[in-house]
Amino acid sequence: MVGAPSILAADFANLAEEVRRAEAGGAGLVHFDVMDNHFVPNLTVGPDVAAALVRATNLPVDAHLQVMRPDSLVPAFVAAGVVSISVQPEVTTHLHRTLASIRDAGLEAGCALNPTTPPEVLEWTFPYLDYVNVMSVNPGFGGQAFILEMAEKVRRLREMTDVPIQVDGGITAETAPLMVEAGARVLVAGSAVYRGDPATEMRKIVEAGRRAAGEA
Ligand code: DX5
Ligand code: ZN
Repeated sequence: MVGAPSILAADFANLAEEVRRAEAGGAGLVHFDVMDNHFVPNLTVGPDVAAALVRATNLPVDAHLQVMRPDSLVPAFVAAGVVSISVQPEVTTHLHRTLASIRDAGLEAGCALNPTTPPEVLEWTFPYLDYVNVMSVNPGFGGQAFILEMAEKVRRLREMTDVPIQVDGGITAETAPLMVEAGARVLVAGSAVYRGDPATEMRKIVEAGRRAAGEA
């Protein structure tokens, strides 16, 4: 079970410290949300901030590209030192080429699915894919309500593939077990981690996930 704090809900002026706080609660990965004001209405941070964070943390950093043109950003995120990059298949025209470009650089390649994007869209990508992010809110903002039906999407994906599944959006100590029981292994959480003491809140989520997985 891996807990991944989403920096979207952290204090951007103190990113390194915010990540350290979540790490103290058992986080194993940093979820770095990149938004371009086109694919989503929000605008966040890019490769320079990712590079600074990679230098400042011991945790691996995973970039979630919520942008219209991911291909032109992949090289800069590779140079930034992130370990993995996920793209949204809804806007990635040549998905095979994009995933290959991420893997050719030695990173893990992922796809993130909007809530209404069917899992079957990935059927022919599995040989080129290292993980799937099942979004349980609409991309763009933190703090939105968890979409319960996404547990069923995780279950369906689990029937289709052994590729590891992340869940992202509205994940709390209450919703995490539903996703873990369905087959998720990486729990991305923003507002639930940073609304209180990040170490305490991260630990609650990871432990709830472990219990649901029968690991604790
Ligand atoms: C939404 C992002 C999420 C977001 C989740 O577009 O992809 O990573 O930070 O935030 P919470 O956990 O608050 O739903
Ligand atoms: Zn995300």
